[in-house]
Amino acid sequence: ILEILLKGLQRLEYRGYDSAGEGDDWESNAKSIQLIKQRGKVKVLDEEIHKQQDVDLDVEFDVHLGIAHTRWATHGVPSPVNSHPQRSDKNNEFIVIHNGIITNYKDLRKFLESKGYEFESETDTETIAKLVKYMYDNRESDDISFATLVERVTQQLEGAFALVFKSIHYPGEAVGTRRGGPLLIGVKSDHKLSTDHIPVLYRSCKFESVFLVLDFYPNVIAVSVTDCFLSYDGSAVIEHTNRVIFLEDDDVAAVTDGRLSIHRIKRTAGDHPARAIQTLQMELQQIMKGNYSSFMQKEIFEQPESVVNTMRGRVNFDNNTVTLGGLKDHIKEIQRCRRLILIACGTSYHAGVATRQVLEELTELPVMVELASDFLDRNTPVFRDDVCFFISQSGETADSLMALRYCKERGALTVGITNTVGSSISRETDCGVHINAGPEIGVASTKAYTSQFVALIMFALLMCDDRISMQPRRREIIQGLRVLPDLIKEVLSLDDEIQKLAAELYQQKSVLIMGRGYHYATCLEGALKIKEITYMHSEGILAGELKHGPLALVDKLMPVIMIIMRDHTYIKCQNALQQVVARQGRPIVICDKDDYETIKNSSRTIKVPHCVDCLQGILSVIPLQLLSFHLAVLRGYDVSTHHSGLKMIIQSFFVLINNYYSLVGYAHILLHILLKNH
Ligand code: UD1
Ligand code: M6R
Repeated sequence: ILEILLKGLQRLEYRGYDSAGEGDDWESNAKSIQLIKQRGKVKVLDEEIHKQQDVDLDVEFDVHLGIAHTRWATHGVPSPVNSHPQRSDKNNEFIVIHNGIITNYKDLRKFLESKGYEFESETDTETIAKLVKYMYDNRESDDISFATLVERVTQQLEGAFALVFKSIHYPGEAVGTRRGGPLLIGVKSDHKLSTDHIPVLYRSCKFESVFLVLDFYPNVIAVSVTDCFLSYDGSAVIEHTNRVIFLEDDDVAAVTDGRLSIHRIKRTAGDHPARAIQTLQMELQQIMKGNYSSFMQKEIFEQPESVVNTMRGRVNFDNNTVTLGGLKDHIKEIQRCRRLILIACGTSYHAGVATRQVLEELTELPVMVELASDFLDRNTPVFRDDVCFFISQSGETADSLMALRYCKERGALTVGITNTVGSSISRETDCGVHINAGPEIGVASTKAYTSQFVALIMFALLMCDDRISMQPRRREIIQGLRVLPDLIKEVLSLDDEIQKLAAELYQQKSVLIMGRGYHYATCLEGALKIKEITYMHSEGILAGELKHGPLALVDKLMPVIMIIMRDHTYIKCQNALQQVVARQGRPIVICDKDDYETIKNSSRTIKVPHCVDCLQGILSVIPLQLLSFHLAVLRGYDVSTHHSGLKMIIQSFFVLINNYYSLVGYAHILLHILLKNH
């Protein structure tokens, strides 16, 4: 089982991670659980397991259950104690693995500490392990099921999660549940499965409703299986079975004595009373990237969720407040500073350019945006009353890191905007914000950019939260953030249209991208994406600079993309459009879908939804991310090629329950349920 678990984790390595751990039974009576956790690769975990003196690899089990996890740190640095499984206590009575973020973990932790539970890690997940023990310690009767305990726990949790539990009090049993994060169950059986559906058992349903469920699927309540695999995604499972069940939000799946059953607390209108066992048709490689052909494409399409993860637990849309735990102790000092300096490289630099205007507006401070290498080359003067931001997806980019050390030496306050907890920039800055976009594996940065953008906007909002005159503007922006995920989805639905455009452009030598104001950064970022992955020449041009030289490049053959949005630069952008048209250019215009004037006057438009001006840059960059992706594919380049090994990591997990129990009649279970409902 250990070998299968470790192999499963290796199948998930593509997701990126910084530490790994496993927990399973090392005695045949499953009365004790061993945990082994390591920072670093699965290989290190494997070596550690084999170093253990007391592991008897020949012991035989009736039911053998192990859980294993790779972690991308979000709560606390990568370390063995922060790795999963997390445990309820020193005896490992309950252990749990978790993907996602629990937003109310601080309140739960406070509550549990007041009840005497002692915490050892910095993770949100440890709260769950302690909470399930609390529920167990305070159970009303001894025959309470593991699934019921887990249901009680999930009722207290806020945030997103996929969880799997194991306990010495329930030997050979695994319980998994999810809300807002995927969880699938692969089933393998020596015999033909008795059904293609597993009925959902409703805990609070009346006696009659149980029959209602059974009416649909009269022969089953639970399905007997030989091996059962719970996993965050199919890649760890597919080499063992292609028969899988996708759990829905708040389903609780229990595997007890080799029978898989699915529970829900109550039935609501529209609920399907069963979960289908589906056949995965995909090859391993395909599953790893979902339905996408590359990580870049996958990450572009993840943006509706990744921006939510950046805001999760931080933006309250009902009372228009922003909380950044990582800055709260420093915000007063930042408010008193003389200027803000944003320092970064590449795409992360563009996130600074994109938000500079709104930072200036909301903080009323001078804001400089610097390329780290140039900043260092210039020996730029930095003072104690400067606040220097370091924006970095990886948190390891050498120039940014050197600039950080340079600023620290000069006494400035340093703030990180990073995607990688435990990275050098995250550790060495005085404070900061983790953008929580999840690992970015594709070489071209996409979702990290939009999450950095959102993080910087959140910072700007925080800086002016006590300024009365700013409140209408703050509310407008926060409400813009609320609808942002849906608007991103709307832009992503333009994919087919953009693919067609790419088919028209891919044999060109060059593409010019023009815009100004909030969209200058989009031009730079779009051009960088095109250069980086399509090997075409591309240039982002500030539309205000056209007449100072670049206009000479425009003729009827030169592909030009212009960004024209209905903000304070609208008239000036129309002006630029006229200049381009006057030189016989036929620009493709990215514009507001309700801007009939521009749509009427342009030969080709990409129409995006409207949102508050300072967030519009998130919507205008996505068509260019998609365009660069399609151009690269059409030009025959592999867009997923890793560079410098810096792209990292997420949490993922894999569970295997290997069971040698024979089939037990469903009548027994039915009886059990009937008794319970009485
Ligand atoms: C913390 C959790 C987060 C959770 C939130 C909910 C961690 C790492 N984060 O987030 O997952 O959603 O509580 O309450 O436990 N820091 C730097 N430099 C950086 C980035 C961060 O010094 O580049 C520091 C921050 O100042 C802070 C710590 O790292 O002390 C964690 O930062 P962050 O994750 O952004 O904090 P929270 O938003 O409170
Ligand atoms: O990890 P960082 O954000 O510090 O990386 C900075 C740049 O190397 C990076 O943004 C690069 O420009 C992107 N790969 C472009 O897509």
